[in-house]
Amino acid sequence: MTTSSRVDFPPPTEGTVPLEVTLRRRRSVREFAADPLTAAEIGQLLWAAQGVTTDRGGRTAPSAGALYPLELYAVTSKRAMRYLPGGHGAEITTERDLRHDLMIAALDQEAVGQAPLLVAVVAVPERTAAKYGDRAPRYADLEAGHAAQNLLLQAVALDLVAVPIGGFDDEAVGSILELPGGQAPRYLLAVGHPRT
Ligand SMILES: Cc1cc2nc3c(=O)[nH]c(=O)nc-3n(C[C@H](O)[C@H](O)[C@H](O)COP(=O)(O)O)c2cc1C
Repeated sequence: MTTSSRVDFPPPTEGTVPLEVTLRRRRSVREFAADPLTAAEIGQLLWAAQGVTTDRGGRTAPSAGALYPLELYAVTSKRAMRYLPGGHGAEITTERDLRHDLMIAALDQEAVGQAPLLVAVVAVPERTAAKYGDRAPRYADLEAGHAAQNLLLQAVALDLVAVPIGGFDDEAVGSILELPGGQAPRYLLAVGHPRT
């Protein structure tokens, strides 16, 4: 359901594709069918990356000190939104399609402009800096990798295809997504249905 500022995703579900099959099938795919993803698919992908799985706030991906120094931004043809792991919803940040601007920021990579869904994995190292000091940026980057791989495997399990994009201008992506200070984009995960 979409309100003026928030999307609530359907509860995550459990599929039937074995983990080993998702590992074997995962491949970077850079061409997508035009079909949009459903809210259920988008929610499932975000949940795989950072969903809350315990009453105490534990998530699908491990986190140094359980301090969770990541934000996820989902970008579609209709809007951009920030994932809210606690409520399995998202806060809408703009009703504009940011994909073309992000493609330019990502060195004109067509996969970024074509994908019906982009998920920006964003590091917020200051969340862990009080505990881990200089190692905070390293831990945030490691956690971005955990979250990204979870999402890539979930995409396979949903019969979707994806590619992790690391080649982009950090400042430009941050500006397009209107990231607050201290938030640094680490990955753009381009996801869609396979082109037949
Ligand atoms: C850190 C990182 C950055 C990457 N950046 C890009 C990128 O900017 N553009 C792209 O098309 N693929 C990118 N990839 C995907 C790799 O090209 C891909 O993983 C590699 O060719 C191996 O293929 P596979 O993923 O199908 O196993 C990136 C992968 C990683 C791990």
